[in-house]
Amino acid sequence: MHFKEKLIIEKLPKHIAIIMDGNGRWAKNKLQPRVFGHTNGVSAVREVTEASAELGIKYLTLYAFSTENWNRPSFEINALMNLLVETIRKEISTLNKNNIKLTAIGGLEKLPSSTYKALMEGIEQTKNNTRMTLVLALNYSAKWELIKAMQSIGSLVQNGSLLPEQIDDQIIEQNLATSGIPDPELLIRTSGEHRISNFLLWQIAYSELYFTNTLWPDFHKENLYEAIYDFQNRERRFGKISEQIQS
Ligand code: IPE
Ligand code: IPE
Ligand code: MG
Repeated sequence: MHFKEKLIIEKLPKHIAIIMDGNGRWAKNKLQPRVFGHTNGVSAVREVTEASAELGIKYLTLYAFSTENWNRPSFEINALMNLLVETIRKEISTLNKNNIKLTAIGGLEKLPSSTYKALMEGIEQTKNNTRMTLVLALNYSAKWELIKAMQSIGSLVQNGSLLPEQIDDQIIEQNLATSGIPDPELLIRTSGEHRISNFLLWQIAYSELYFTNTLWPDFHKENLYEAIYDFQNRERRFGKISEQIQS
């Protein structure tokens, strides 16, 4: 099946979020060390980023490192952090060529300084690009983000610039790391796991969830088209009944 030709351009999601999972198992299947899986996961990132921009997706958020991932063996953490430096440095020119802006969400200041520096360079050097925004979630977790938001809102209330009853959807959204970015219509998780693992909790309240057994390094452009095709064939009712949607 060629899914790309079946996609309806007017019905594309504006924002796709992906939990890139299964690098370790991919490597293990090949009798290789886990880090080999991460290295190969980078090509999938490149393919999916390119495919998304080509289609006209405006935001692509990739879960690259969670707050829980600090609990992994330090050897693996170091390898991931170095891979990030290497990848960001190498990809800046392609991002610019493809008019893609890089941004990041998460506790970035806690990243190793070399990773932080490469990330900031990538963000700075691509800040004027307009075709698509690539958001890397690094040292990110949804609970971290919600705690931060509550702290900021709490201080606004404390200093008198906000009343508790004024707290609404908009105020909360303005205080999230994703402020200004529309909620993802489609959330993809690879590797057969059916969980959210502390990713965007607030933002995925009404996202369509797509789970695939494909391991992240095997996720190619065609897999993305298939996920979007699946998304386009769902009925998003937002609490209404089917007849209201069709009319
Ligand atoms: C996803 O692959 C990459 C990160 C979480 C950084 P994993 O490393 O989680 O691979 P599995 O789940 O162990 O196969
Ligand atoms: C989720 O994957 C985090 C990222 C993809 C960065 P994990 O592999 O860390 O998730 P769990 O531990 O299986 O829930
Ligand atoms: Mg995993």
